[in-house]
Amino acid sequence: MTMIKVENLAVSYGHGHNALKVLRDVSFEVAKGETFGLVGESGCGKSTVLGALAGRIKNWSGSIVIDGEGADPKRTKSQLAKQQMVFQDPFGSIHPRHTIGRTLLEPLEIQGMDRRHERIEEVLRDVGLSHNFRYRFPHQLSGGQRQRVAIARALILKPRILLLDEPTSALDVSIQAEILNLLKDLRERENLTYVLVSHDMAVIAHLCDRIAVMHDGIFVEVTTRSSLFRGDVAHPYTRNLLDGSRGYVATKPPREVAVG
Ligand SMILES: Nc1ncnc2c1ncn2[C@@H]1O[C@H](COP(=O)(O)OP(=O)(O)OP(=O)(O)O)[C@@H](O)[C@H]1O
Ligand SMILES: [Mg+2]
Repeated sequence: MTMIKVENLAVSYGHGHNALKVLRDVSFEVAKGETFGLVGESGCGKSTVLGALAGRIKNWSGSIVIDGEGADPKRTKSQLAKQQMVFQDPFGSIHPRHTIGRTLLEPLEIQGMDRRHERIEEVLRDVGLSHNFRYRFPHQLSGGQRQRVAIARALILKPRILLLDEPTSALDVSIQAEILNLLKDLRERENLTYVLVSHDMAVIAHLCDRIAVMHDGIFVEVTTRSSLFRGDVAHPYTRNLLDGSRGYVATKPPREVAVG
């Protein structure tokens, strides 16, 4: 079953003479339960793809269908709740002066959900934090714990899709693997679909089924994890990316890739 279907997506920032076209003719599908990776150099448009999917960027053209429903640039609250973003820097998504409990409560209030207390306890448990964390402030947490809270906040409204923008890049290598394993478990348990941006080929290899290689606002190639490992890629730009990460990819079989 298809969870995300994007056709001819184009995004520009700014207007008129100053308009900057950052995505052109981007098309892809993501199956339910799949993890779809986006790789490519800085500024090529990866976060813009996630922003359009998340409904954060509104001036796009083309077609986005999520879970069988056409995503109008103006989506309803419940449509917006279906996909949630997780960012590299959890400070960006967690209010520094609110307790974790308050941060988790807010989306539940906005959506008018009931069983709020139970849902907060449930989601903290899901990300491996004890219920006492609801009384803590972000500065009282480790980097890994903060990213767990950011994931909890993304999950609190029971989305179908997580849009993960470099979710482990700001973490110590030892913590990265913990968070990646948590994401993997959650995907199975909650039947989630992921779109994951990472510059780290080991992270991509750990989680992604298929990977789109982006260059200057377009998809130059969509490949599979096993093709990446075999080095069986068509586009010279993909080859360059692979050559740049030789230490991780294609020299080790997928299962043994050490993340960190
Ligand atoms: N709000 C904005 N206004 C104008 N230009 C923007 C805006 N956001 C991004 N851009 C530009 O759009 C292009 C794509 O940016 P985007 O953030 O999608 O890249 P990225 O692939 O995620 O890069 P990185 O790996 O550095 O995060 C870049 O040239 C960027 O400068
Ligand atoms: Mg980005």
